[in-house]
Amino acid sequence: MSEVTSAIEVCIAGTGSYLPERILTNAELAILVDTSDEWITSRTGIKERRIAAEGEFTSHMATHAARRALEQAGMAAEDVELIIIATITPDTPTPATACYVQQALGAKNAVAFDISAACSGFLYAMKISKRLISDGAFKNALIIGAEKLSSVTNWDDRTTCVLFGDGAGAAVLRRSEPGEGSILATEMGTDGSLTHLLNIPGGGTACPITEANANDHLHTLTMMGKEVFKHAVNRMKEAAEKVISRAGLQPEDIACVIPHQANLRIIDAIADRLAVPNERVFVNLDKYGNTSAAAVAIALDEAHRSGAFKRGENIVMVVFGAGLTWAAAAVRW
Ligand code: ACO
Repeated sequence: MSEVTSAIEVCIAGTGSYLPERILTNAELAILVDTSDEWITSRTGIKERRIAAEGEFTSHMATHAARRALEQAGMAAEDVELIIIATITPDTPTPATACYVQQALGAKNAVAFDISAACSGFLYAMKISKRLISDGAFKNALIIGAEKLSSVTNWDDRTTCVLFGDGAGAAVLRRSEPGEGSILATEMGTDGSLTHLLNIPGGGTACPITEANANDHLHTLTMMGKEVFKHAVNRMKEAAEKVISRAGLQPEDIACVIPHQANLRIIDAIADRLAVPNERVFVNLDKYGNTSAAAVAIALDEAHRSGAFKRGENIVMVVFGAGLTWAAAAVRW
């Protein structure tokens, strides 16, 4: 599903992120399961990840990230009209985590809801809110990717527990003023024939959690890593190429590519296929691992605040996750 820039342009006016304090290193994981810093680093690029405290929920991390994004955008919480949170680890099945965040921020005039599109959720939220703003339904939106993946990780499974972490990232979208940036093109896609490659089997209506299946870890993430890897490279490349082409850009016009932070080998393969040099590809997975919907949102904020791109320059974000789902966005900052 794709779109080109519509009449009312929409810009990203502010970004924010939040990472829990607790750092879990590869060396610590090697005590928990049969793994090593060498294996994790060489296969994934991850060195450490953040783990939320016991009483720290997805909504708490989302609220911290949102406050930073609002502050940077110079926007008061009461002026926010729409809040969309992308998460697969909501505080509660219902109400939506976005409702808790609305209350915590004091954004009492905002409509708030969650979407579930795994690692692709933040860019799904970007496309949805961009369209709702450009159609005139809302003047602005606060979009947030937030996850407490440590709560759905099987800490006995070395094939997954080394990959995931917790955190949140946020962005404020609003109508562009003349001379400001613009979300130039967006793309998103889904292949529901591949749900079995990456999922949490229990906890929904198909398999409600019982004591027995909780002991079998059915409430945690399972993944066929090698299969997911192949699809990730192909789909992310295609999605990125579509938004680059629709935005009328060439590889040399892109100041920064911000990919989903799942695996350095996937990121390198995509940079190579897009013909964008590695120094223009933003990577922070060494510090945080894969934080699903939060990953690209945290990376966007860190890239922005570290000066990886400037006003007027073009960036491309591209993501991939369970579903399978994928999405991309080309933005002139
Ligand atoms: N430490 C040591 N050995 C390990 C570990 C570990 N942590 N994990 C697996 N191994 C072993 C395996 O058991 C296997 O051993 P065997 O050959 O004796 O059977 C061997 O290492 C190779 O395992 P593979 O699974 O083939 O390793 P691979 O090189 O494919 O790397 C990985 C696995 C890192 C998961 C990779 O496939 C990957 O990154 N896949 C894509 C993940 C992704 O992009 N996910 C997208 C979104 S996630 C989301 O939506 C929440």
